[in-house]
Amino acid sequence: LENGSLSIIVLGASGDLAKKKTFPALFNLFQQGFLQPNEVHIFGYARTKISDDELRNRIRGYLVRDKGASRKDLEDVTKFLQLIKYVSGSYDTEEGFRLLDKEISETEVLRNGVDGLSRRLFYLALPPSVYPSVCRMIRHCCMNKTDLGGWTRIVVEKPFGKDLESAEQLSTQIGELFEESQIYRIDHYLGKELVQNLLVLRFANRFFLPLWNRDNIENVQIVFREDFGTEGRGGYFDEYGIIRDIIQNHLLQVLCLVAMEKPISLKPEHIRDEKVKVLQSVLPIEDDEVVLGQYDGYRDDPTVPDHSNTPTFSTVVLRIHNERWEGVPFILKAGKALNSRKAEIRVQFKDVPGDIFKCKKQGRNEFVIRLQPSEAMYMKLTVKQPGLEMSTVQSELDLSYGQRYQGVTIPEAYERLILDTIRGDQQHFVRRDELKAAWEIFTPLLHRIDNGDLKPLPYKPGSRGPAEADALLEKAGYVQTHGYIWIPPTL
Ligand code: BG6
Repeated sequence: LENGSLSIIVLGASGDLAKKKTFPALFNLFQQGFLQPNEVHIFGYARTKISDDELRNRIRGYLVRDKGASRKDLEDVTKFLQLIKYVSGSYDTEEGFRLLDKEISETEVLRNGVDGLSRRLFYLALPPSVYPSVCRMIRHCCMNKTDLGGWTRIVVEKPFGKDLESAEQLSTQIGELFEESQIYRIDHYLGKELVQNLLVLRFANRFFLPLWNRDNIENVQIVFREDFGTEGRGGYFDEYGIIRDIIQNHLLQVLCLVAMEKPISLKPEHIRDEKVKVLQSVLPIEDDEVVLGQYDGYRDDPTVPDHSNTPTFSTVVLRIHNERWEGVPFILKAGKALNSRKAEIRVQFKDVPGDIFKCKKQGRNEFVIRLQPSEAMYMKLTVKQPGLEMSTVQSELDLSYGQRYQGVTIPEAYERLILDTIRGDQQHFVRRDELKAAWEIFTPLLHRIDNGDLKPLPYKPGSRGPAEADALLEKAGYVQTHGYIWIPPTL
């Protein structure tokens, strides 16, 4: 295990991402003892000229927001905030970064004497337009002191470009300054508990091994629904749309883990090699396997152009051309302002051959992984209706986390991922070639939408989205079970 000075530098410290996600995640790690006050120093960096205390006050309210703070929490907040120093400067001149380097170096000397490590983690909670200049400044002014050893790593967030070309350009610019092993591209869906469980589930259970293929599986759905619109983010969102915001990254990452072959080992490179392979096997998207939607009222947002063609909903069918999956549609669906909030993977099995129970009207077997809320896995199956009659009914084998793991707090995605960056584990981060393959799949479709060749259909906020999306689902072979609904168990 490493020890010695660890500096975590949050660039864009007063922005939304930093306040809502980065600092709260750091605080949670601090509370659990992963960030030791005698080793760790946290720096906030941004353009605004404010004092240390002003930054601390801006962050304070976000740290224990959801939990209802105990006295101990409040004491921890105070201790945590004391670890944070603020440095102001611009993102494209050396002056601020030299000052930052000086501040970091001072704490390193203070903490280490002469022979400790110099570990520097730069978290870019910034718009990608400034990534290249910020990376250049870090490279020139703020690298770890090699006489002390240690490392410098940078953490970046999507959007990584807007299409294949811009993404590759960004990757090249950053790649000229840092090695791939120093770059951590976050996709926070990879930090979710049930997403992390996919590998274990698939490759550690004999149940699934023989079933997980085109012989048994009829279709797979990966669904993201939100019951609120783009409130407050319309301006950002309109530049990107639902495919770039959710599908090309979050849902596609989940697809990789559902569909990839077994990696040689759990080494990050082995896992990422398999993810790239499955992405490269995805066939070009057909126009008649796409439905786009935009909810009524989306353009009322003053930051959204009146004639915006940006989809807030989309269903896209992906086809994987390999031995395991040929003929099995992977239906990715995401939407804002729908009737519910949830994310899940739904694997639907084929009908039972030579059926003697006439089960078809009962519905097919399904294996559902509920990512959020109410984390769960359940298997929908047909059983005998309890009682004197020999009739069948739909039921489920249910592993609901709230019930099965009572009292266990499921870590936040960001918390887990930041810990990985400190430990140097890139398994749950997106590699450059993986990103490229992901953009290759969606870029032609995105360009056609950007050019106005494909238009979103209107839908009512609070609905299921455009009816055409359900029609596409049906056409792709999904059979909905009527009269059955899974209800998460209450404690
Ligand atoms: C972000 C998107 O990446 O993920 C947002 O930009 C979306 O539009 C969010 O709301 C959803 O994340 P989660 O963890 O709440 O499902």
